Amino acid sequence: MTALIDNSATTVELAVEPIAGYLGAEISGVDLAKPVDEPTAQRLRDALYAHKVLFFRDQPIDHAQQVRFTRYFGPVTDAHPLGYTDKSPAGFPEILEVDSRTYASRGGARKYSYASFWHSDVTALINPPAVTVLRAELVPDVGGDTSWADLGAAYDRLPASLQRFLEGLYAENRFGGREKRWESASEAERLTAETPIVSEHPVIRVHPVTGQKLIAVNPGFTSRILGVSARQSDRLLDLLFDEITDPSLTVRVRWTPDSIGVWDNRATVHQAPTDLDHLDVVRVLHRTTVEGEIPVGVDGLKSRSVSGAPFYARTTA
Ligand SMILES: [Fe+2]
Repeated sequence: MTALIDNSATTVELAVEPIAGYLGAEISGVDLAKPVDEPTAQRLRDALYAHKVLFFRDQPIDHAQQVRFTRYFGPVTDAHPLGYTDKSPAGFPEILEVDSRTYASRGGARKYSYASFWHSDVTALINPPAVTVLRAELVPDVGGDTSWADLGAAYDRLPASLQRFLEGLYAENRFGGREKRWESASEAERLTAETPIVSEHPVIRVHPVTGQKLIAVNPGFTSRILGVSARQSDRLLDLLFDEITDPSLTVRVRWTPDSIGVWDNRATVHQAPTDLDHLDVVRVLHRTTVEGEIPVGVDGLKSRSVSGAPFYARTTA
């Protein structure tokens, strides 16, 4: 058990412990069931920009407290632009349920998350989420870890000639990326057909807060590089996907009940668990996202919308 921490007095002393070579830190010394003051919220944001993935342990908070916590990082959007209406708990349209029991009730293959492949969240949008929060309620004793990789470090170690080449390119992003990842006649197929969301983002993005250059493609959503042939696009994406998911650039975190993960969705890709499908376990997490800005590349290149509206927060309270 952790000691009760009283945030109300003054700014709390956060402990920030890095957990991998490039990204990821565990944060302790704050009780997220209580509001934090603005200097503490700023330190949480600073820690996120510095470490890209933050983990908090033993934080038994509820949906409302999760939404309040998410607001420390910016305006909170609804759960998903495709309006998965049955996936939010009553009264909390901001929360996306990731619940293996729901997947099981629909039949079909066993499933523990939306996306068991590397991706940043919802980069089909013209303004993909800036930050994502995921809170674990029920998790298996073993298995079901999530991994993240550092898109800034991936850019930094490219040769300068390749960096310059990539800085002038755009990539198309759409649900499914290069290949359809849902079953025919599924809800996902219907929703993506009803509400097509397609955007063209600079391949190299400049982070709006830190100024760091990032490789802004991901296997989950990036479908092609524009201005080159289909064959060349595939070769370039193969190369970039290999670079951004290199194990040396990753952190892998084991979920525990009442743990909370926060990631800078602009600076990272992540991969949901791939080691549970043969097991019969329960895994329940709750996701919230922070409204993102329209990406800007090098030399002021701006993202372009092909289809779909920006995804704004309902309120900015
Ligand atoms: Fe995700």
